[in-house]
Amino acid sequence: MTHVTIVASLPAQPPIVARDFIWTDEAACAAMAAELASTLKPALLGGASAYIELHGTLGAGKTTFTRHLLRALGVQGRIKSPSYAVVEPHDVPGMAIHHFDFYRFNDPQEWEDAGFRDLFAAPGLKLAEWPEKAAGLLPRADLQLHIQPSAQDNEQRSVHIEAFSATGLQALQALQPASASEPAGVSAHG
Ligand SMILES: Nc1ncnc2c1ncn2[C@@H]1O[C@H](COP(=O)(O)OP(=O)(O)O)[C@@H](O)[C@H]1O
Ligand SMILES: [Mg+2]
Repeated sequence: MTHVTIVASLPAQPPIVARDFIWTDEAACAAMAAELASTLKPALLGGASAYIELHGTLGAGKTTFTRHLLRALGVQGRIKSPSYAVVEPHDVPGMAIHHFDFYRFNDPQEWEDAGFRDLFAAPGLKLAEWPEKAAGLLPRADLQLHIQPSAQDNEQRSVHIEAFSATGLQALQALQPASASEPAGVSAHG
């Protein structure tokens, strides 16, 4: 008997551009978050939309990077992790920000019931941790960060960033290697 596989989601698109960085410590993570914030902020204040996915194991630094990014965008007060609520909204005048953590997301019905479809359709900044847990529901990301802790140094992270849109490309190209050195071997003069 033949089994028919139903393809539930579209095949993954390749990124337009990808770059690799090293965060030697959390300060390098914060520096990159601040740089990204300064590139995105004018467009977001002008009513644009951006969606950033954060991939990586537990403790990689997804929430930490997000907190530094939100601070740099002007979010004040305590920045709660959205783990239990799935989404945490943040307010900066003129800009809607939603920080998602899909770690505990397991009911696709919640996507509709909780209004996530509407949140993703509206302008503003959306950030998502554990997007793989809501695969098939999420839109194409502008940027994906893949954060990998170092086996040797517990403050170091390898960060692979992929851009999937013009917005993502512009933000990725604006990142300076100086804020987080690009490892030797990926540059053209290797
Ligand atoms: N280079 C670094 N970048 C980001 N976080 C770091 C770095 N070095 C150490 N850390 C620490 O690692 C932890 C990351 O935790 P968290 O951001 O909650 O991870 P995740 O959300 O990916 O599960 C934080 O305690 C942070 O201070
Ligand atoms: Mg987290």
